[in-house]
Amino acid sequence: MEKSAIIIINGPNLNLIGIRQPEIYGNIGFEEYIPQLQQEFKQYKILYFQSNHEGTIIDLLQTYGFSSLGIVLNPGAYTHTSIAIADAIASIKCPVVEVHLSDIYHREEYRKTNFIKELCQGSFVGLGMEGYKLAIKHLADL
Ligand code: DQA
Repeated sequence: MEKSAIIIINGPNLNLIGIRQPEIYGNIGFEEYIPQLQQEFKQYKILYFQSNHEGTIIDLLQTYGFSSLGIVLNPGAYTHTSIAIADAIASIKCPVVEVHLSDIYHREEYRKTNFIKELCQGSFVGLGMEGYKLAIKHLADL
């Protein structure tokens, strides 16, 4: 894995963005958005993964977490529940930046629990797809 790779990892139900609750998450899906990001950040190799499974997300963090420039992570609902994903972030070497499309701090009370925040090198929350762009720029500046 070359050093200039930036890895985007999305968690459960984020494959349905564009269809899922567009009033909260917007109308654009990642199939449309990721090529735009790859076009904009040509100097990096941007790899995109989405999984509905906690263990797969952990496997991806372990696979790419020692060799890439950084990871942009939106663990979806696992943000609020997964100590295992938090432990994986703490175990790897490359910086992880957290993204949430919606503002998790101004929604249901249970979304305020965030097991990964303290372990990430930054958080972009409530900015929609723009958060992913800002996260990549942030990783590039670290
Ligand atoms: C989310 C926020 C989470 O609370 C939710 O479970 C998601 C998406 C976001 O991007 O806003 O699936 O991570």
